[in-house]
Amino acid sequence: MAKHQKVLVLDFGGQYNQLIARRVRELNVFCDLKSSDMTADDVRAYDPIGIIFTGGPNSVYEPDAPRIDPEILKLGIPVLGICYGCQLIAFTMGGKVEHAPTSEYGKSDLVTLQDSLLTEDVPAESVCWMSHTDYVADLPEGFRSVAHTAVCPTAAFENAEKRIYGIQFHPEVKHTQFGMTFLKNFLYNVCHAAGDWTMSNFLAEQVESIRKRVGSGKVLCAMSGGVDSAVAATLLHRAVGDQLTCVFVDHGLLRKYESDEVVSVFRDRLGMNLIRADASERFLTKLEGVSDPEKKRKIIGEEFIRVFEAEAKKIGAVDYLVQGTIYPDVIESGKGKSDVIKSHHNVGGLPDVVDFKEIIEPLRDLFKDEVRRLGFELGLDRKIVMRQPFPGPGLAIRIMGAVTREKLETLRDADFILRDEIAKAGLDEQIWQYFAVITNSPTVGVMGDHRTYENVIALRAVTSVDAMTADWARIPYDVLEKISIRIINEVKHANRIVYDITSKPPATIEWE
Ligand code: XMP
Repeated sequence: MAKHQKVLVLDFGGQYNQLIARRVRELNVFCDLKSSDMTADDVRAYDPIGIIFTGGPNSVYEPDAPRIDPEILKLGIPVLGICYGCQLIAFTMGGKVEHAPTSEYGKSDLVTLQDSLLTEDVPAESVCWMSHTDYVADLPEGFRSVAHTAVCPTAAFENAEKRIYGIQFHPEVKHTQFGMTFLKNFLYNVCHAAGDWTMSNFLAEQVESIRKRVGSGKVLCAMSGGVDSAVAATLLHRAVGDQLTCVFVDHGLLRKYESDEVVSVFRDRLGMNLIRADASERFLTKLEGVSDPEKKRKIIGEEFIRVFEAEAKKIGAVDYLVQGTIYPDVIESGKGKSDVIKSHHNVGGLPDVVDFKEIIEPLRDLFKDEVRRLGFELGLDRKIVMRQPFPGPGLAIRIMGAVTREKLETLRDADFILRDEIAKAGLDEQIWQYFAVITNSPTVGVMGDHRTYENVIALRAVTSVDAMTADWARIPYDVLEKISIRIINEVKHANRIVYDITSKPPATIEWE
C-alpha cells in the first residue's frame, strides 16, 4: 500500500465519517480513517498528501470535546475541516465559534465566491446540506470566507497560503449538489493528488505483493460463496494459482443450486483447487429436533469448524490462511466507538483449528463497494459480485422451529421463485435482501375440491444500507401476485403466502 498517495481522514465521531472516506476513494485517492487523537509526529510519519477533519457531535467549547494537536496545522500539509472539523480549525487558530442564532438542518442555499481553488466549477448559487448549531462567527487571522448561506457567513473558508480550508456543510452527502466538486477541488487543486487509487492498480499491486509474500508457500482459504470470500479467493488464485486450496463447507443449508454454482464457477470455470466438503447429512442430523434459533446457530457454527478442521488436516500444514476481513471491520473509529462489528462471522474460529504461519487479509483496506469493484476487475460475474448478504447458518434460521428435509425442500423451491421473479422485475439490485421463510404454523386451504393443511410461506424483502436498520421493500403488487401464484402452483406443501411489512427495528431482518 505504501506506493499510493494517501489522505488522512481524522475521525471526530460524526455519523457520515465512513462516507467521507468512501467519497475520497471514489475520487481515486486512497485514504484511511483514523482516530482524531493522532499527534503531529504520527501524522508526519503517516505522510499524507492532505488531511481531512470530519464532523462530530460535539461543540468545541465542551471541556471533553475532541481537540487536535495544534502542531498538525503547522506541518504545511493541506487540511480540510468539515462541519465540526471546520469549527475546530477556526477555534484552534484563534477564531471564534458560537452558537448560531438559527440552527441549520437540511437543505440550504449556498452562495459561493468564484476565485478560490476550493470552489472551481461550483456555480455562484447551489444547494448544500447543513447540520449544525454552532458556526464560525469570527475567522482566524489570514482566513477569508469563500461561501455563505442566509444564516451562516462562513459556510466555507480558506487560508490559501497555509492551504487550510473549512466547510460547514456536508460535501459527502448527495443532497449537497456540488459536494463532490468541493472534495475533488481540495484533493486535486490543493493537495495535487495524482488519482492513483483505482481498482486496476490495486489488483496489480496486490497480485505482485501477494506473490512476493507467499513465494512458494501453501495457502488455504475457506469459501462460503459470499462476496468477500469469493473475491478474496479469486484474488489469491490470480496471484498464486495452484498454491491456493479453497475449502467450501457445504452444510446443506444453502439456497437452491447454490452449492453446485460455487463449484461450477470456482472449480470448473476459474480452475481453482476447490474442495467441496459435502457435510449436509452431518449438519441435518445434528439439527434434528432443535428448534431454538440460538442453539441452531451454535450447532452450525461448531460443526462448520469441525468439518473445516477435518479438511485442513487432510491438506496438512499450510503457510497462510486467507480471511475475507474488510475495512469497516478494522476501522478504529473516533474514540473507540466503533460498535458495528458483527458477532456472527461463521469463519471467525478457523485460525484456532488450522496449522498455519500467517494470516493474509487481502481485502482489509477495502470498503464493501470496493470489494465489489475488485470482483468486477477480477472478471467475476455480476451475479456473484452483486449477491445479496446470506447468513452463515443459512436456511436453518429461515425455517421456524426444527429443520426437516421436507421443509428445506419446500423453502428452497419457494425462495428460488421469489428470487427469480425479483430478478425478472429488475429489483434484485435495489433490494438489500429478499428471501422466503417457512413458518411453523400450518393453515387450512382449499385446492381443487380438496382441503389442504400446509405451510405458510412468508416473504421478506428489505431495503437497508448496512443491515443495522431496514425498511420493508415496497414490491409492486403485481410482482407479489406473480410470486404468490407461482409458489402455490409450483411448490409442494405450501398453501398460503404472506408478506412481512415490519421494519427493523422493531423486527430484525431474519425471522430467527
Ligand atoms: P438481523 O436478522 O439481525 O440481520 O436483522 C442483520 C444481517 O445479518 C445477517 N444475519 C446473520 N449473518 N450469521 C450470519 O453470518 C447469523 O447468524 C446471522 N443472523 C443474521 C442477516 O442476514 C442480515 O444481513
